[in-house]
Amino acid sequence: MPAAAGPGGRKPLISGNWKMNHTHLDAIAVVQKLAYSLSPADYDRAEVSVHPAFTALRSVQTLLDADEVPIALGAQDVYFEDSGAFTGEVSPVMLAKLNVAYVIVGHSERRQHFGESDELVNKKLLAVLRHQMRPILCVGETLDEREAGTTEPKVLGQLEAGLQGVPAEAMASVVVAYEPIWAIGTGRNASPEDAEAVCKSVRAWLGERYGAGVAGQVRVQYGGSVTPGNIAELMAEPDIDGALVGGASLDAERFAQIARLGQPAR
Ligand code: 13P
Repeated sequence: MPAAAGPGGRKPLISGNWKMNHTHLDAIAVVQKLAYSLSPADYDRAEVSVHPAFTALRSVQTLLDADEVPIALGAQDVYFEDSGAFTGEVSPVMLAKLNVAYVIVGHSERRQHFGESDELVNKKLLAVLRHQMRPILCVGETLDEREAGTTEPKVLGQLEAGLQGVPAEAMASVVVAYEPIWAIGTGRNASPEDAEAVCKSVRAWLGERYGAGVAGQVRVQYGGSVTPGNIAELMAEPDIDGALVGGASLDAERFAQIARLGQPAR
């Protein structure tokens, strides 16, 4: 696939996080429609990943492999141990065997509803890297934190904690997703300017920690009420390299429009 045309040569990554939606049958139907809707020109413009529930991973993988669909398979979470007595958990070994390419870690819903700490998120991220998959590390502030003017310390603190022990050589395969919690599932997306300001700070922090070369390679996604109607203006910002899409990714046609970055189909 040709390299990115975006800033710094970064190819945008458009990821559909289906959360706790779609049975494996529904998931197959959505991926079939998506594969039908997207053209080689679309895959040239942006990389696309889908993140079904664990129960649908195998079915979606089989479909993608059989039809050679250039959509990357993603997971929504992982545990950090390879195997053992951890009832209900799914290991990175299991995901890697399914050709999972991207694994979301530290989604705000995991942090909020399941009490995931920065330390746990960091262990998960390292486990994903250890198994040659790519983590999508989610960071973002609450509405209270935004209104108190503490967005940047919150986001950079989550970044610092989540990336503990990640060497510079591994950093280019990490994706950061800036998802302001107040924008998730609310229909109220961050303005492109506000999203850009935080994504730019993320990249500046990465530059200080890992050097400008690495910072220029890391893709920073925006997530939170992304739709076909706002993707183009978000993507016009220089430090936004794609989107982590929830609700609008459940429908194949809407997600295809987002994956086209708002460009018309051809
Ligand atoms: P929505 O696109 O539904 O706001 O969800 C965003 C999100 O949490 C993606 O991970």
